[in-house]
Amino acid sequence: MYSMVEQIRRKRDGLELDTDAIRWIIREYTADEIPDYQLSSLLMAIVFNGMTTDELAAWTDAMLHSGDVLDLSSVDKAKVDKHSTGGVGDKISIPLAPIVAACGVAVPMMSGRGLGHTGGTLDKLESIPGFTTQIDPSAFDRQLTDIGVVMVGQTERLVPADRRIYALRDATGTVPSVPLISSSIMSKKLAEDLDGLLLDVKVGSGAFMKTEADARTLAQTMSDLGAAHGTPVTAFLTDMSQPLGATVGNANEIRESIDVLRGNGPQDVTELTIAFARAMLVLAGHDGERAASDVDAAISSGAALTTMERLIEAQGGDPGVIEDPSRLPSTGQHRVIEADRSGFIARCDAYDIGVAGVRLGAGRAKKEDDVDPAVGFTVHVDVGAPVDAGQPLLTVEYRDDERLESALSVLKGAIEITDEPVPARTLIIDTI
Ligand code: URA
Repeated sequence: MYSMVEQIRRKRDGLELDTDAIRWIIREYTADEIPDYQLSSLLMAIVFNGMTTDELAAWTDAMLHSGDVLDLSSVDKAKVDKHSTGGVGDKISIPLAPIVAACGVAVPMMSGRGLGHTGGTLDKLESIPGFTTQIDPSAFDRQLTDIGVVMVGQTERLVPADRRIYALRDATGTVPSVPLISSSIMSKKLAEDLDGLLLDVKVGSGAFMKTEADARTLAQTMSDLGAAHGTPVTAFLTDMSQPLGATVGNANEIRESIDVLRGNGPQDVTELTIAFARAMLVLAGHDGERAASDVDAAISSGAALTTMERLIEAQGGDPGVIEDPSRLPSTGQHRVIEADRSGFIARCDAYDIGVAGVRLGAGRAKKEDDVDPAVGFTVHVDVGAPVDAGQPLLTVEYRDDERLESALSVLKGAIEITDEPVPARTLIIDTI
C-alpha cells in the first residue's frame, strides 16, 4: 500500500518512482481508488520533470496490463500494424492496410477518431455507407485469417487505463509530454500481439510535434519501448506542414485512397503508402527487394483493391464504392478559392486547413459531436508550385452557409503566395 501524496511529492521533487509504486498507481486509478485530482497532480509533475527510462518502462507495462491483451496466435501469419501521430489529410492507413494484407502479412489495425484539428481513420472509414468499426472478437480473428486485415476501433477492454488517463490529460493540459504520449501510444500497440510496428511521427504545423527535434525524441522513445518489449519498431519522421494528398475530409479521403489502390493516387500519398508498405513487410521478415516488388505487384495486379473491397464487405460496408465512388456521400455544394495574385506557393498550412475542416463539420469541436462525412476540401496546390492569378487553390465542399463562412475566415491566411521560388517540402525526413 502506497501513499499517493507521497508519490506526488517524490515526482514533484524530481525523485524516481519505483516500479511497484507505478503499478499500484495505474491499478488503483483504473479501479477508481485514486481520485482524478491526485492523478492530475502527478501527471503535471511528470509533464515538468519527465520520467526515467525505468519509470517509463514500468508505466507503459502497467498500462498495457490494465486490461485484456490480444492473443492472435490462431492467425498463422506475421502481424504488423502502423500508427500515425496524426495529421491533416492523413489517409495513409486506408490504402496501406489492404496492400500489406495482399502481400501476405496480417494487419490487425486499431485506429482512432479525429482529435482536435486532425482527422481519424475510423471517421473516414465510417463515411462508407454501412461500414462498422466495431466487430466482435471471434469475427476479428476470422477476418484476419480470411482477408488478412481488420480495421477497427480500440475495444473497451484493451488498455482501459489509457482511456481514463487520456481523458484526464485532455482536460488538465497534460497531453504534451513525451513519456506520457509514448506510453499512451505504445501500451495500446503492444497490447495487440504484434510482430512489428511501423510508426509515422508527423512533424510540422499540422502535427502534435511542431519541431523535428521533438518528433525525433518521441520516435526514439517509442522505438526503445518497442525494443524493450521485444516488438521491432520502424519509425518514420514525415512532414505535416501541408496537408497530405489532395483531399481533406472523410468521404473524399476514401475516394483518394481508392485512387491510390488503383495506382492513380497523388504523388505524396502514393510515395508514403509504398514506403510504409515495404517497411511493414520487412518488419514481418520479408527481404527488402522482394518487399518492394510484392508491393508494386499488389497494386498493379488489383489484388490490393480486391482486398479493400473484401474488407469493406466483411465490415458491413457497401463494396460498390470501389467501382463507383459516387456512392460515397457528397453535398453537391462547392465554393472555389482562387489565387489573388501570381507567384509561388510558400505555405499551405496544415493546421489552418485542419481547423477549417472542423469548422466545416469534417471533424469534432467537442468529443460528442458527429462528423459530417461529405464535407471537406480539395487542395489544388503544393508548396513550391507556381500559380497564376485566378487559378483554383482550394475547393470547399460544404453543407451550410454559416459553417462555410466560419471555415473561410480561418482559410484566409492559410495559403501564402510569394514572388520568389520556394523549395518543395521533404516528405520523408528520416527513418529511425
Ligand atoms: N495519441 C495517443 O494515443 N495518446 C497520446 O497521448 C497522444 C496521441
